[in-house]
This record gives sequence, structure tokens and C-alpha cells, in this order.
Amino acid sequence: MELIDKIVSLAKRRGFIFQSSEIYGGLANTWDYGPLGVELANNIKRLWWKRFVQDREDVVGISSAILMNPKVWQVSGHLKGFTDPLVECKKCHKRFREDQIPGMPADSQSDRFRECIWGGKHEFTEARKFSLMFKTFVGPVEDANSTVYLRPETAQGTFVNFENAQRTTRLKLPFGIAQIGKAFRNEITPGNFIFRVLEFEQMEIEYFIREEDWQKYFDYWQEQMQHWILDIGIKKENFAVREHEKSELSHYSKKTIDFEYKYPFGQKELYGLAYRTDFDLRAHKLSYEDMIPHVIEPSFGLERTVLAVLCDGYHEDNDRIVLRLTPALAPYKVAVFPLLANKPELVQKAREVFALLQKDLPTAWDSRGNIGKRYYSQDEIGTPFCVTIDFETLKDKAITVRERDSMKQERVKIEEVGGYVRAKI
Ligand code: GAP
Repeated sequence: MELIDKIVSLAKRRGFIFQSSEIYGGLANTWDYGPLGVELANNIKRLWWKRFVQDREDVVGISSAILMNPKVWQVSGHLKGFTDPLVECKKCHKRFREDQIPGMPADSQSDRFRECIWGGKHEFTEARKFSLMFKTFVGPVEDANSTVYLRPETAQGTFVNFENAQRTTRLKLPFGIAQIGKAFRNEITPGNFIFRVLEFEQMEIEYFIREEDWQKYFDYWQEQMQHWILDIGIKKENFAVREHEKSELSHYSKKTIDFEYKYPFGQKELYGLAYRTDFDLRAHKLSYEDMIPHVIEPSFGLERTVLAVLCDGYHEDNDRIVLRLTPALAPYKVAVFPLLANKPELVQKAREVFALLQKDLPTAWDSRGNIGKRYYSQDEIGTPFCVTIDFETLKDKAITVRERDSMKQERVKIEEVGGYVRAKI
């Protein structure tokens, strides 16, 4: 089985990610987070918010509406410029993004190319521009006056609130406004699991600076992004930085780099860092002390983070599967087992330990099957520690703590086990 298929299968089997509306055959390129997936995703968002908003004096957060006045998208250039070049095979009518076909311009991702089902190679039409923005209508009449768009980036909600946020916080340049929220894109090419989806979450910072400082803050944010990637447990050798060619740059960007992750299906964009100049604030006629700040934009996709940490953490170790998630991201930090499920005194003691730990640590309970199976089950979902309550516990008030990656076991006093786990996560 290919690695990506193993990860998709684990994600489904253990409740990380399900196909959206699966009982009706699903909807292509849309996925749901299951009970463990939502914990993992929330841990990523919480960590990100703490690091880039709460722990900093120069960044504040907002949360803006998904639906906005359509003028925003006209002024921002998205109505005209946020398009992909679409080509269609004249024989089988399959559609492709032109820049993802071998031999076509910007041939960067060849894996989507297939022979035509009617024989030979595809015969493509000329490329036409295809808007990535989903359209809908407000009110009962579906016409041009009632058209609104689902935002394709959180950034515009941030830009249009620039003066509101600055005025209410009195921040001085340089400062940032951060936002975590949904974005929507009508992607042409199918997705590689949750890599390219129609609906996803972005974690974005618009960092406002003086023009002359742009290179300094671009470098600074590149470093910050790299620290983040390493701190969420992604190995250094598994990601790389690639600068965009001129022809690839978004309509608003003067310089963009991608942090690319070596996904099992190829090295592809994880995050982007762009120098958006004063393009957006100028377009919206927004300013600060009679000048128009420039913008450095670190942009992080949640789904691509989830996929990267699943891929990076996935290990097969003899007959066990271990998800080596960095403890801060693991859905459960600790699991509690009574050695034998049919001994009420063990179960009762284990319940006490469970209640104690659950107060301030996400804690799992398992009393099914044998201890070995329970360990394997927790390894597969990335739980860093398992504690077992045995007959000795009833005498010495200590329990066995087993660590996920090394499988080393240690005896720890019950009252110290919370501190022991917290110190290591
Ligand atoms: N505001 C800048 C912006 O939106 P982008 O490179 O188009 O830039 C930023 O998107 C990030 O959003 C990407 O680096 C990626 O992590 C994520 N992203 C973009 N399109 C996506 C899609 N269709 N599915 C999942 N994540 C996506």
C-alpha cells in the first residue's frame, strides 16, 4: 500500500478525517474532521494563536465574516485576477489546470496528467481563465445585485478592518493583525486527500511595516515560520523553501516564497510568505498617519499542517504503527488502563487516576483487550504516555508510565504523574 493510502486509512479508521457526507457518496475534495481530527486541528490553531498573537505585543487578532461586500473583491483584484488557467480535453472533456500539465507552462506538478480514456494523449483547448471564487446570493432574487462571494482568503477581512483594529488598539508600526478562519476555493484539480480542498482554514498574519523595512521583516517572518514548522515536529529534511518565479506571483505580490513539504505524493506547498507591498491598503484607500503601510504576509493552511504532521509522524515499527506527533499536538496526552478489566479494585483505582489526570490533561480511558493491544491502539493515535494501574499500585500508590516512542517504562507515584506528563509535553 502507498504511504498516503496508509495515512488515509489510519485517519478514517481512528477518527481523524472522514469523507464529507460519506453516506451519500461524499463530495469530491471535501472532508470532515472526526473526534481525534478536531482535537489535532484545534491544538494546532491554539498553539498558533498563542505563539503569534497572545505571546506577542505587536500582533492582535480579529475574526471577520466570511461573506463581505462584493466591492471588496472587485477592489482587491480577486474578481479579475484570482483565476486559474483551465484547459479541457476535446475528446474526454476532462479539465486540468494548465500549469499542472507536463510540457505546458509552469510545469511544476506532473502527477495529475493521464492518458486520454479515448486513446492517445489528451487534446487540449486553449486555456481560459476560471474564477476560483464560489458565488452565492443574498436574499430571494438571484441576480448581479445580490451576488456575494465566499472569501478565498481571510486576508481581505483583515485589510478592511485595518483602521478599526489600529484605532482600537493604538498599535504603532510595525504591527500585525492575525486571523484564523475558513476560506473557500473552487479548485479545478482534485486534491490528494486534504492537500487541496474546496473549503479550508487559513491562519494568516498581515504584518504592517514601512516600505523601507520590507526585506528585514520578510527575513524575520521567514525565520519565524521555519521555527514554527520545526516546533510542530516536522523534520528539517522534510521541508524546503522555494521562491516563486515572476510568472507564478499572485497579482498582489512582489516576492513570495513557499515552504514546501515532502508529501508522499510530491514536494508541494505547505505555507506561503508574501510581500504584498501596499497593494491592498492602497486599493481599499486605507492609511496610517498619512502614509500607506506595506505588508508582509505569513500564511499558514490548517489542512496542509494536519496532513504534514500526520505524514511526518507516521512510522511503522515492526508490527506496530506509531504516530509520532509532537506531544503538544497529540489529541490525548495520556491514556489510563486498569491492568485487568475484571478486577473491580483495579478498575476503581484506575478510575480515580483517570479523574485526577482528566482535570487538566486530555486523557483517554481504555479497559478493552490486553495491555499490549491498548498500547498499540494509543501508539496509532499518537498518545505520548500510557499509565497502567496494577496490583502493586494498590500497595505502593505508584503506577507504570510507558512512553510512546521509546516504549520505556517507569514507575511514578500517583500524585506525581500529572506533573511528570506535563513536564514532558
Ligand atoms: N492570503 C494569501 C493566500 O491566500 P495562498 O498561497 O493562496 O495565499 C495560503 O494560500 C495557504 O492556504 C497555502 O499556503 C496553503 O497552506 C493554504 N491553501 C491554499 N489553497 C488551499 C486549498 N485549496 N486547500 C487547502 N489549503 C489551501
